[in-house]
Amino acid sequence: MIQAIVYTSNAGTTEQYAKIIGEKTGFPVYSLKNACGLAAGTEIIYLGWLMAGIVQGYKKAAKLYTIRALCGVGMGETGSQIEDIKKANTVSDSMPVFTMRGGFDIKKLHGIYRFMMGVMRKTAGKKLSEKTDRTPDEDIMLDMMMNGRSYVSEKNAATVLDWLGKEQQNNII
Ligand SMILES: Cc1cc2nc3c(=O)[nH]c(=O)nc-3n(C[C@H](O)[C@H](O)[C@H](O)COP(=O)(O)O)c2cc1C
Repeated sequence: MIQAIVYTSNAGTTEQYAKIIGEKTGFPVYSLKNACGLAAGTEIIYLGWLMAGIVQGYKKAAKLYTIRALCGVGMGETGSQIEDIKKANTVSDSMPVFTMRGGFDIKKLHGIYRFMMGVMRKTAGKKLSEKTDRTPDEDIMLDMMMNGRSYVSEKNAATVLDWLGKEQQNNII
């Protein structure tokens, strides 16, 4: 039975999603860094921010706990990138994987991440800004990159909340 939500966040959006899910379900929420109160093998939902397609902290969390569902928080559209994430993170086919659009704000980044995304803005951002036939999703990505935005919302967590609701019901019955 799922007992907790564990997350790794850098700029805060993944933490916000973990807290939204915690509030809605009643599960306690822990940062992976401070999850020492949780017994090894505890069944959890894990949320990590996406860096170059890798769910940060997933490998470590998978060694410590039993992950029942994996959530990646990134700049991409909610529900996108799922197959790529499964592959890049060598997640088993049976693992439920969810993605949620977090946010992006270069001012909230430090050190190497700020540098990397500064380069990304100058390359991918410039390319996108010059593109004349941007899709609505590309418009959002460009706006996020250049102006800083957060898309954290309960609506973006609806799919994982639905799945969790069904899990909780199955455990009661
Ligand atoms: C260095 C770096 C690499 C990133 N790579 C990806 C990526 O591969 N896919 C994606 O969707 N978002 C990517 N992002 C965007 C973050 O995942 C996004 O901003 C997320 O909301 C950050 O979560 P946090 O606020 O919990 O740190 C990247 C961000 C940084 C700083």
